[in-house]
Amino acid sequence: MSKKVWITGASSGLGLHTAQALREAGFTVVAGARSYADETRRQDALCLPLDVTNEESVQAFVEKALTLTGAPDVLVHCAGVLNLGACECYGDAEIRLVMETNFFGLTRMVRHVLPLMREKGKGRLVAFSSINGLLGIPWEGAYCASKHAMEGYLECLRMESAPFGIEVMVVEPGDHSSGSSQYRRHGENMHKDNPYYERYQKGIRVIAHDEENGSDPKKLGKKVARALRKKHLPCKLLIAKWDQRLAVMLHDALPVRWFSRFISMYYKQ
Ligand SMILES: NC(=O)c1ccc[n+]([C@@H]2O[C@H](COP(=O)([O-])OP(=O)(O)OC[C@H]3O[C@@H](n4cnc5c(N)ncnc54)[C@H](OP(=O)(O)O)[C@@H]3O)[C@@H](O)[C@H]2O)c1
Repeated sequence: MSKKVWITGASSGLGLHTAQALREAGFTVVAGARSYADETRRQDALCLPLDVTNEESVQAFVEKALTLTGAPDVLVHCAGVLNLGACECYGDAEIRLVMETNFFGLTRMVRHVLPLMREKGKGRLVAFSSINGLLGIPWEGAYCASKHAMEGYLECLRMESAPFGIEVMVVEPGDHSSGSSQYRRHGENMHKDNPYYERYQKGIRVIAHDEENGSDPKKLGKKVARALRKKHLPCKLLIAKWDQRLAVMLHDALPVRWFSRFISMYYKQ
């Protein structure tokens, strides 16, 4: 019988490619996102409305998905948002939206889905962090904070849930050309008379360039599907080009001041 995967944030970008790769690999996929207004079927995936920032929406998604497939073998949390801006200038609502989606969205899904896996005595959780869960870069303060929070939480969860037969894999993508960059939100205070404005403009051009020239999201989807077919799920899947892998290594090896200078120069600060 095919394994059942529930995946959040599967309406676009990396989530969409991952859901496609999982279907091609023979998994039964239930996909959730806000833009699925009603229950639909798209390219063999069952699509349900889901807002991970809303407790009732998560509950409704889980109840409906249960009637469709029964308890899942795998939960993939891919739903995420990025809000570019200067750390000093983010408003509460902007930071909260990023944390609510990326971090609390994950904890909410875990709270609803892990009990179903514990009951079965096995299950797999795959959560999309980022290389920005491992290192910070300018203008992504809220996002980096949310991804670092995810990394810490998942490390603890892995230890606590392993005795119940649950495996946890953290996916840490570098830049991918998923086409999402055109929809990026910008901090509401990043206007022309903001003291950070000029350097911000230079930095976000580098960010946009790196995303547009990023890795192939289809390959990422296939790598995630391949990892899920393994007998033992890898704890981490860092999927990035060599220079971004090097940055992760330098982050751990260099004195903080040197690393900060090096990254700041890269982003033309
Ligand atoms: N692309 C990259 O280069 C890259 C690099 C590192 C990490 N990542 C991570 O990979 C994941 C996907 O990123 P992406 O670049 O592919 O972004 P994307 O195309 O913007 O996709 C984000 C997905 O999350 C969903 N989503 C957003 N808010 C949601 C909510 N409140 N409830 C449910 N679903 C929600 C969106 O669907 P709706 O709008 O329909 O709800 C969409 O399907 C994110 O976690 C991101 O941090 C991406």
